[in-house]
Order: sequence, then structure tokens, then C-alpha cells
Amino acid sequence: MPIEFTWYGHATWLLNTGNHKILIDPFFVDNPSTDVSPDDVDVDFICVSHGHGDHIADCAAIANRTGAPVISIFEITNWLTEKHGVQNCIGGNIGGTIKQDFGSVKLTNAIHSSQLPDGSYGGNPAGLLFELDGFKAYFACDTALFSDMSLIGEVGIDVAVLPIGDHFTMGIEDSVLATKLVNPKSVLPTHYNTWPPIAQDANGWAELIRKSTSAEPIVLEPGGTHQF
Ligand code: NI
Ligand code: MN
Repeated sequence: MPIEFTWYGHATWLLNTGNHKILIDPFFVDNPSTDVSPDDVDVDFICVSHGHGDHIADCAAIANRTGAPVISIFEITNWLTEKHGVQNCIGGNIGGTIKQDFGSVKLTNAIHSSQLPDGSYGGNPAGLLFELDGFKAYFACDTALFSDMSLIGEVGIDVAVLPIGDHFTMGIEDSVLATKLVNPKSVLPTHYNTWPPIAQDANGWAELIRKSTSAEPIVLEPGGTHQF
């Protein structure tokens, strides 16, 4: 069964496996790249990479409306329960694999920060490595380049989603190096063009990826989908 990726702009993604819909880093209301309302998003699971507002902003509203479990770092799921009444939470930590009906997601290293919107400690920021019935998707999430990405790639990655915005995360040049380390079949850019400091030429990025890696670059417009 194909797996459909939808990009809502910024770092918000929906994976639809056919059996489950997994929402990643829900940011809708204040996301200038989407008109989609968090009231209209249909999900079975929510994954949050770290505590920054551009990743967690609409998480509690969607979780409380749908009852979809939230998978994230322990400090973040605790905060969601204590401060926002989210009852259905699965907290883990870096290196841990969380198994659910859809398959599993491992919380991987990310080099970033993770303060929650009210100033609370959010633990360590994470990347997300999904295993979906044999299909492996790695979301680096907000991070700098790091050489251990090659270890993450050892499982054989079908699709990598890498930030290219620069300024708050790695930029285009480092995402090309990251693609070489992870060695995915396909790579999609994320966390760019939302605001002026992270404006990037995604087609130029795609040319670089084609020229210097063996991955196929796939550039979506906000709201766009791709099936694998
Ligand atoms: Ni961040
Ligand atoms: Mn961010």
C-alpha cells in the first residue's frame, strides 16, 4: 500500500499509510503557509519533535479534539498532560523506539534546543525515524548537521525529510551533506520559506541534491502530497 506524505508548510507533515494517519509537528493557526484549520485535521497519531511553538502550537487542541495519542519526549508529553489536559500521551526519550499500531517511531538525536512555549523545560529535541510496514522514513526535524546521521541511515532509509531553511536549522549546503550521510532513496526539504529568515530556493537545492547525491529530491508546495 502506498504511503502518502502531505506537507502543510513549515515543518508540519501528515503521513497516511492507508490504515493510519500520523501528524508530525502540528503548526496550523500561526503558520503562514497553510489555511488548514486544526479543527479540520483528521489524525490517528501525533508526533512532536521538540517544544518550540512552530512544532507544538496546535498539538493540544488536535489531541484533545481527536483523542489521538501524542508521541514525544517525556518532558513534552508530561507538559501536555499537566498544562493542557492531554490524557493520551506516550512519552519516550532519545534512542527509544515506540511501537504502535502503525509500526514504530524511534526518537533520534537532533542538535537544537527545546524550550516549551511557556518557558518550561522540554528535554532534548528529537528527530523521528519511522518504520511503517518495512518502509523507513527519517524526519531529521530541527537540527544541525551531525556525522551520526550515517548511523541513522544504516537501516536503509526510503525517504528522508531534511530542513533546508538555515538560520534556525541546517541550510542547503549542510542538507546536501546530510543526504550523503543518510543515503535515502528520496529526500524532501522542510522548514523553509515560512518567514524571510528561512527563505530558500528549493529548486536550486534539488539541483544540488541531483548533482552530488544518489537520492531523488522531491519538492512539494505547501498543501502538496506525494505517494511512495
Ligand atoms: Ni525549533
Ligand atoms: Mn522550528
